Amino acid sequence: MIGEYEYEDDDIIGNAYDARIVRRLAGYLRPFRPLLVGAVLVLLAMIGLDTLGPMLVRYAIDSQLAQGRTDELPLIVGIYVGIGILLFVLRYCQTLLMTYIGQRVMMALGVELFTHFQRMAIAFFDRNPVGRLVTRVTNDVATLEMVVSQGVVEIAANLLLVMAIAVMLLVLDWRLALAMYVLLPVLIYVVRKLAARQRDGFRDQRVWLARINAYLNENISGMAVVQLFNRQPENLRRFDDRNSGLLRANLRVVAVYSIFEPTVVLFNAVTVGTILWYGGGRVAEDTLTLGTLVAFLQYMQRFYWPIRELSDRFNTLQQAMASSERIFRLLDEPEEIVDPVAPRQLTKVNGKIEFRNVWFAYERENWVLEDVSFVIKPGEKVAVVGATGAGKSTLMNLLLRFYDVQRGTILIDDIPIADLSQRDLRRHVRMVLQDPFLLTDTVLENIRMRDQAISRQEVEQAAALVGATEFVSRLPQGWDTVLAERGANLSVGQKQLIALARVAAFDPEIVLVMDEATASVDPVTDQYIQRSIRKIMLDRSAIIIAHRLNTIQDVDWIIVLHHGRLVETGTHRELLERRDVYHRLYELQYKTAEAGTRGPT
Ligand SMILES: Nc1ncnc2c1ncn2[C@@H]1O[C@H](COP(=O)(O)OP(=O)(O)OP(=O)(O)O)[C@@H](O)[C@H]1O
Ligand SMILES: [Mg+2]
Repeated sequence: MIGEYEYEDDDIIGNAYDARIVRRLAGYLRPFRPLLVGAVLVLLAMIGLDTLGPMLVRYAIDSQLAQGRTDELPLIVGIYVGIGILLFVLRYCQTLLMTYIGQRVMMALGVELFTHFQRMAIAFFDRNPVGRLVTRVTNDVATLEMVVSQGVVEIAANLLLVMAIAVMLLVLDWRLALAMYVLLPVLIYVVRKLAARQRDGFRDQRVWLARINAYLNENISGMAVVQLFNRQPENLRRFDDRNSGLLRANLRVVAVYSIFEPTVVLFNAVTVGTILWYGGGRVAEDTLTLGTLVAFLQYMQRFYWPIRELSDRFNTLQQAMASSERIFRLLDEPEEIVDPVAPRQLTKVNGKIEFRNVWFAYERENWVLEDVSFVIKPGEKVAVVGATGAGKSTLMNLLLRFYDVQRGTILIDDIPIADLSQRDLRRHVRMVLQDPFLLTDTVLENIRMRDQAISRQEVEQAAALVGATEFVSRLPQGWDTVLAERGANLSVGQKQLIALARVAAFDPEIVLVMDEATASVDPVTDQYIQRSIRKIMLDRSAIIIAHRLNTIQDVDWIIVLHHGRLVETGTHRELLERRDVYHRLYELQYKTAEAGTRGPT
């Protein structure tokens, strides 16, 4: 079954302590050093106060009650309650402080991951499904937060407390202490065994959760397809698989969890019994005071819980290490596409585009484009045609530098695009996307993409150019109408118009058009959009991926791709006369397109 899911790094187990990771994590804590020092001081005070209580009780019993006196009792009670109040305040401060630090670290990491994602090449997103990346930013970061706010300090606190109590017990009465320590290894052994089982459970939990997230994301985004193909039952089954996996993992964790507490309680009972029996005998023999015995029993209560807590925190730590490792691994993925150190500036662009012996593969030597060369002169409009999978979209992706070519050079105005900053390049080369991605924002901002350098007036002009003004004015709040996620409340044609207006508003010297973009609108809208596209291309260099005749006849010349090779160039008429690849494509694809069905996109 597993093959159906996976990504190995959801499986990272993590050691509870990994120096490399800890050092790196410590870097995130550095800005909070004063606060951390404060937290540690508070902690020490808490532990000191915590160990005082039983001593007070011993004093009250041995030098007051056993002597039949009560004169100092009010003072002792006062101190006892005072300590309680102080502990209350200290614990409150401690929790606040550590949670604050944890939250700040979480925020910093979240921002860092997000910034990193934005810098990554598109190939990174081909490799990493959305749900998985989302899991990193949410679950993994939250686990880290937990370890900062609860783990680190609590572990230190519990360790110190256990040690302090162990010493106090020895000081109180070493024979009693030894009687108790005899039983300790058994407890530690059992707790460790349980903790190990719990850890496996936690790992399973995480793995299944990541699977569920990834699956959910795909399914929710693809709901229309799921419903169209009646995949609901099958997909439900698949979801159910994952959900059952999570259930099993959860139950396993709970099973261990539920045995933990009774185990500790049982141990407590056994040791209390032992101490009571042995200690009680010694009290009767008068070799031990009653106060010492009571104090001893009280310390024991405080001794077991930290041990239990420790094993719990240990798990948290282990989880956090695994989460950190996954987060850091992601952060360490190099940006595959980097700007040159000293990028050349593109100021005034004429719009010459050249592909010079370009070879490209998405994966290793699996060539998608082979030795492609062509020159487009400023202002020329060129169509790229070819059967599905020929490499048309790839060509556009390369020109925008979403991927880097393996061999050869792509040049704009005779400057290799690798010498430009990506920002600069994409300012001059704009693409009308196949699937216009609209954001949850107003129409106005969807056109200028929150670029305040573009005035409202320019936006309106751009919209007028592509003929979007009319429909926008009919929207409830006109330019300020807020669009739903991905523009769900607009028709396909309307989305196209906004996408076109977007390109027009940014006024690039080179436009790339995915003609298939308009493949799903009615003929009238199609005509309308074609006209808008023509207007956008006016006075600019343009490459169009054409699937239809009307666009092709408009262009200056045509590039024919066949299995990643440039096989023919020429005008529509010239290419038809050659009666070769283009002619064949034309016969096959465009003839049927005319009849109403369109070629694959
Ligand atoms: N992200 C990717 N990772 C790996 N291979 C890819 C990727 N995108 C495309 N390919 C492969 O590259 C080849 C060319 O794909 P491309 O999308 O450029 O074709 P196309 O000419 O645009 O086809 P269509 O007309 O169907 O849109 C195909 O064999 C495809 O399987
Ligand atoms: Mg394509």
